[in-house]
Amino acid sequence: METKTNPTIITIFGGSGDLTWRKLIPALYNLFLDGWLNEKFSIVCIGRSEMKDGEFETKLKEGVDQFSRSGKTKKEQWDVFVKYIFYKTGDFNNKGLYSDIKKEVNLFEKAAACKTNKIYYMAVYPQFFETIAQQLCDAGLAEDREGARLVIEKPFGTDLQTAQELNQTLLKIFTEEQLYRIDHYLGKETVQNILAFRFANAMYEPLWNRNYIDHVQITVSEKIGVEDRGGYYDHSGALRDMVQNHVMQLLCLIAMEPPVSFDADEIRNKKADVLHAIREIKREDVHDFASRGQYGEGWQEGEKAKGYREEKDVPENSNTETFAAIKFFVDNWRWSNVPFYIRSGKRMQQSISVITIQFKPVPHQSFPDEAIENWQSNKLIINIQPDMGIRMRFQAKKPGLKMQLTPVDMLFNYNDTYTSGIPEGYETLLLDVIEGDATLFMRADQVEAAWKVIMPILSTWKDNPSVNFPNYAAGTNGPETAEALIARDGKNWIVLPFDKKTNGQSKNV
Ligand code: BG6
Repeated sequence: METKTNPTIITIFGGSGDLTWRKLIPALYNLFLDGWLNEKFSIVCIGRSEMKDGEFETKLKEGVDQFSRSGKTKKEQWDVFVKYIFYKTGDFNNKGLYSDIKKEVNLFEKAAACKTNKIYYMAVYPQFFETIAQQLCDAGLAEDREGARLVIEKPFGTDLQTAQELNQTLLKIFTEEQLYRIDHYLGKETVQNILAFRFANAMYEPLWNRNYIDHVQITVSEKIGVEDRGGYYDHSGALRDMVQNHVMQLLCLIAMEPPVSFDADEIRNKKADVLHAIREIKREDVHDFASRGQYGEGWQEGEKAKGYREEKDVPENSNTETFAAIKFFVDNWRWSNVPFYIRSGKRMQQSISVITIQFKPVPHQSFPDEAIENWQSNKLIINIQPDMGIRMRFQAKKPGLKMQLTPVDMLFNYNDTYTSGIPEGYETLLLDVIEGDATLFMRADQVEAAWKVIMPILSTWKDNPSVNFPNYAAGTNGPETAEALIARDGKNWIVLPFDKKTNGQSKNV
């Protein structure tokens, strides 16, 4: 296998945490298996927990066995990979920790005897972001402008002001080119494919505007509740946790103008343009443009599910939203008056991330009434997960002696089309950091622009606690106000076929 990357030492702060275990190490392991990692590679995991000899490696192996897309580890491969990994107990506030890291880095560089990447990955609570960045700076670890890179997990700030402050602090230490703000949705194959679908094909772009598109819907719903993250989630809520980042990024990919090149800044400029064009929702209009919900107890697949307020570390009178639906407008030539309806929630009926482009009806209906009983306007359905693919719904004549129209689908499905394994989002993103490609990462101005869009909703909801939470039962499609939000415009949320065979996941749409 060909090694494609420079020698790299990656230091993971939060090395004993869940993200490292579930996502980062399995992703690095797969990059190793696929031959992407230079044989001069080192992973230094810094955690606050003390670990006995071998304990850390055993836990990592369990994580890879459980979460890696390539299945269980094979001994001979794992034994090679695990030699790249070191664990170090350390307090992120302690200067000594950073001089130790510096020693490791220096040794690594000396042994590599060529250009190296030094990646610092902050898989920690956000309250440590500034401390770690400052300590890296004080230890002289941020100085190699080309090779030293800082990866920052979300949440990036809790509102516009804190995001701006964090950007200012980080940009005093690192250059923008050294910063990789992660939004793991951007690493998903199906999300990256939106760019290919839109800009590598000539046939959709002429239709991709207000003349042909009636509206766009983006649904990112999850069956899971807050699990053991109640402490974090209760200060976050659906708007901050999902909408400000993942959902806004999907909206940008759908609404952006064609990029002139695939240069990181060109793509990010075009996405930032969308965020700047989103119509401001005035505080007095929030009620008409946004709906919030919180799940109460309910049933999911025959099992009783707790309400949000009964979850661990959630106050019994919590006013945090676990569901949000919003209507946005993108005020530019292409999208003038085309609504973008977005919704995201936890403990919903389905786990599904899907974008639907609803086209306008034909300008003139020439078929007789009896032919069009089942008639629907065209829809393009981009399925992000769990099924991956794109479905084009159009009308066809139902076979028979009479002219009867019926909707049928043209389907592109990843599982049927590709036999090779599909990389996980974190594999793509980690490889991009190693290769120094920031296209799929959030630039400072993008993060701030996305916060700016949701600020009026955040502040209005904060100042006016909901009086009717919980307002949707676990296992349902969210609150009635979300139905009303779209029904007022004479439309409805598109419900995708429910497939019993896939255990309640949507059919391949
Ligand atoms: C994270 C959120 O960013 O995304 C979680 O903090 C959410 O609350 C998760 O569950 C969803 O990611 P995915 O890849 O499972 O859709």
